[in-house]
Amino acid sequence: RRPAGRPEGVPAREIRSVGVAGAGLMAGQLALLLARSLRVPVTMRDLDDERARRGLAAVHDEVERQRARGRISDAGAARLRELVRVTTDVADLAGADLVVEAVFEELAVKQRVFAELEGVVGADTVLATNTSALSVSAMAAPLIHPERVVGLHFFNPVAQMPLVEVVRAAQTDDVAYSTAFAVAQACRKTAVAVADAPGFVVNRLLVRLLGEVLGALEDGTTVAEADRALVPMGLPMGPFQLLQLVGPAVAEHVLRTLRHDLGERYPDSPGLARVVREGRSFVTGAGRPTAASPVDPAIGE
Ligand code: 3HC
Repeated sequence: RRPAGRPEGVPAREIRSVGVAGAGLMAGQLALLLARSLRVPVTMRDLDDERARRGLAAVHDEVERQRARGRISDAGAARLRELVRVTTDVADLAGADLVVEAVFEELAVKQRVFAELEGVVGADTVLATNTSALSVSAMAAPLIHPERVVGLHFFNPVAQMPLVEVVRAAQTDDVAYSTAFAVAQACRKTAVAVADAPGFVVNRLLVRLLGEVLGALEDGTTVAEADRALVPMGLPMGPFQLLQLVGPAVAEHVLRTLRHDLGERYPDSPGLARVVREGRSFVTGAGRPTAASPVDPAIGE
């Protein structure tokens, strides 16, 4: 089944209000981008007050950073703070025309979130998933209206990365698909139509790359040297910086999904599993990692 681009002559759904399921790292970045690009209220929803509070604080910090750098005016910053809200009550997403989910990367969790959303939103609200690798069709399957589900896969850091993978599930209708392209376009992203296949396009390559460099680490190369060796190959950042940015646990989830669906081409990475288990960090000094944890000397830094 070939993915086709935006269907011609099919108007996108008008979006006056957006919901974001989750208030974590990707969710907050998405909420801010959507509020800024679509200029509509965006409500993030997470499970408890603490996660909700932290999610909103991260958004406010970024708004303040942009204001302090003169990228947005005082009024613009105030407007963004007004537009992005947070809640723990899914019913607060009832009026959303579009909900983007960015919750834990597990099919059952995402299916539960969509089922819960379907209980409160309108029948034609578009439900988009930011999944890294899971099947969008499988995510949509248990719903009453699976035709409104579409994949809208943004990359981290969301504001900077120009690409969005748009995924048409087996059930996705033209309106939901067209809406996904329109949203990506409004966010000034390059929308690429990709098949609903494990890892879509980018992550198929990315986890192989990260798995291989972890192999080099196992063989004794240091994090800093591996990053230094590979950046001149044309990568925008060293692979270990990238692993830090993506999060080793997310990378492991992607790898596990690809291994499950595509088999031996995606072998287990003992290095990645160990990094996840031990909560190691790859801060090499260059660039800006997401977590400010110190380098573990055992990694060979
Ligand atoms: N988090 C958030 N923003 C960051 C960041 C980070 N870790 N690192 C840099 N930035 C921002 C900076 O704040 C700056 O924004 P500003 O202009 O508003 O201040 C902007 O990026 C440019 O920063 P710099 O000039 O310092 O740095 P670079 O020119 O080196 O660009 C980069 C930074 C855009 C992050 C670049 O290194 C890059 O493209 N790296 C590759 C990132 C990548 O491949 N991401 C995909 C990950 S895979 C994924 O998300 C899919 C998932 O499913 C696993």
